[in-house]
Amino acid sequence: MTLSYPSFAIGEEGWQREAPRLARLVDPLVAWYRRSARPLPFRLDATPYRVWISEIMLQQTRMEAAVPYFNRFTQELPGPAALAAAPEEQLMKLWEGLGYYSRARNLQKAARILVEEHGGQLPPSYDELLALPGIGEYTAGAIASIAFGIPVPAVDGNVLRVLSRILGCRDDILSPAVKKAFSRALLAVMPQDCPGDFNQALMELGATVCLPNAAPRCQDCPVADQCWALASGDPTVLPVKGAKKPRRLQPVTVLIPAAQGKLLLHRRPAKGLLAGLWELPNREESLTRKECLALLDQWGADSPRLLPLRPGQHIFSHITWQMTGYLALCREAFSPPPGFVWVTPDQLEADYALPSAFSCYRGELAAFAGMTR
Ligand code: ADE
Repeated sequence: MTLSYPSFAIGEEGWQREAPRLARLVDPLVAWYRRSARPLPFRLDATPYRVWISEIMLQQTRMEAAVPYFNRFTQELPGPAALAAAPEEQLMKLWEGLGYYSRARNLQKAARILVEEHGGQLPPSYDELLALPGIGEYTAGAIASIAFGIPVPAVDGNVLRVLSRILGCRDDILSPAVKKAFSRALLAVMPQDCPGDFNQALMELGATVCLPNAAPRCQDCPVADQCWALASGDPTVLPVKGAKKPRRLQPVTVLIPAAQGKLLLHRRPAKGLLAGLWELPNREESLTRKECLALLDQWGADSPRLLPLRPGQHIFSHITWQMTGYLALCREAFSPPPGFVWVTPDQLEADYALPSAFSCYRGELAAFAGMTR
């Protein structure tokens, strides 16, 4: 197949050259979106608050996983005032399992600013949205365009992939220069009457048709006739993505003291990974049995019985935890140092948010609590 146009080149004024090609995408994409958009809860009732919550949830979570969380969150906390006033435990419980808990904390910080400085509403301004905690350029663009009809772009990973394929961009889409070039080109062609539909059409195309890796469904693409990557013969040659730093492997020893129908939890420090969340007690190192017993002794356990659990793994964005677990059956619920708390399985279920990192042990926690030394 011959290519009717050159591949995309960023750099000096590159975005201006691309604008006419982008402009030709607008109508077919918007029409396709209106025909094919998934009826998602934050589209059916697209208040600024609901769009905001959905965009924050979708930053690091797949759509299918996010929707039930979104429904529960917006039912329990239906607007900025309720979010601003929510107790921390409720907020963490609503986020339990979604990961990246700082997203929830930033939502609450921003909600408090909305209550104090914006009359309890999201401001209809890209710059004022961008100034709120947890809202970056993408999220400000998404809320501004979808909820307020402001013609600004919203370039996320899906949009970068879609545009790199259509335009034939062979630069690294993880580089800020590419994002900037795409954003400037998009800004020049934003439809003034439906910027939210256009932005969501690009996102939706990336999420349902122009899929990553070897899976694009070009036969369903409304702009296949304009796609550089498809015309080149293999749409999966793009995007080009520079190598990411490999994740650091971190050994973690998890120690779960159990006694009298209860388990011991520990609260993580206020800063850093999983800040302020409850956890199964652990050390971020590989401990021998002897070292585990010494640590349990420090915590106050009286000659516990140590039972090995199966190993677990959890992948964070930049670290992989490789977990070795032990159940420490204790004679009694000893008095632990500050920062620890004994809980029954029912209390854990109702009141404590346990990060997914520990989900490999979660299923058995009730049984552990019931075991006796
Ligand atoms: N990903 C993030 N926001 C989205 C949206 N509004 N539509 C489709 N995918 C998305």
